[in-house]
Amino acid sequence: MAIRSILYADDPRLRQKAKPVRQFGPALKALADDMLETMHAANGIGLAAPQVGVLQRLLVAHVPKNENDSQSGKDFVLVNPQIVQASSEKVEGVEGCLSIPTWYGRVLRSEWVVVKALSVYGKPIRIRAHGLLARVFQHEIDHLNGILFVDHITKPEDLWQELPQEEGEEVEEPAASAAEAVAQPV
Ligand code: NI
Repeated sequence: MAIRSILYADDPRLRQKAKPVRQFGPALKALADDMLETMHAANGIGLAAPQVGVLQRLLVAHVPKNENDSQSGKDFVLVNPQIVQASSEKVEGVEGCLSIPTWYGRVLRSEWVVVKALSVYGKPIRIRAHGLLARVFQHEIDHLNGILFVDHITKPEDLWQELPQEEGEEVEEPAASAAEAVAQPV
């Protein structure tokens, strides 16, 4: 496995529509393993193949372990994922993106989705996800279509920057957004 470099927001490859995966085999498995390793190394909870410069429809996700959610604490690899059902109920949540470091925003997403996909070995899978995992799937599937979370933001106050704290720097007031449980980037 290897850590791949992550593309940043001005890279035109992040704006292209990724192509369906047609070839299953060791190269695809190696790419998925690299994406999982890259996501974990960057402290992310999701990563889409275009973010590592591969314009194929593949995403990985892993939301932090939470006792109330049996889908948390697990690695997901979804090939050619498609949202086949989504709740009409939308919820607001804070998102970040490994391709847009230090920026966060409030984005409305469906509270739950049903995603149809293939496993890395080409086996059909269907997952009903809610909450944070549903949000991550929606964010990553957007990446496969060249869409970034900032595209969903309509009010300037819903997007802000949080620079990492310098070593030894004193914390004054907690940022207004700190109370909103800032999401790990995806
Ligand atoms: Ni992202």
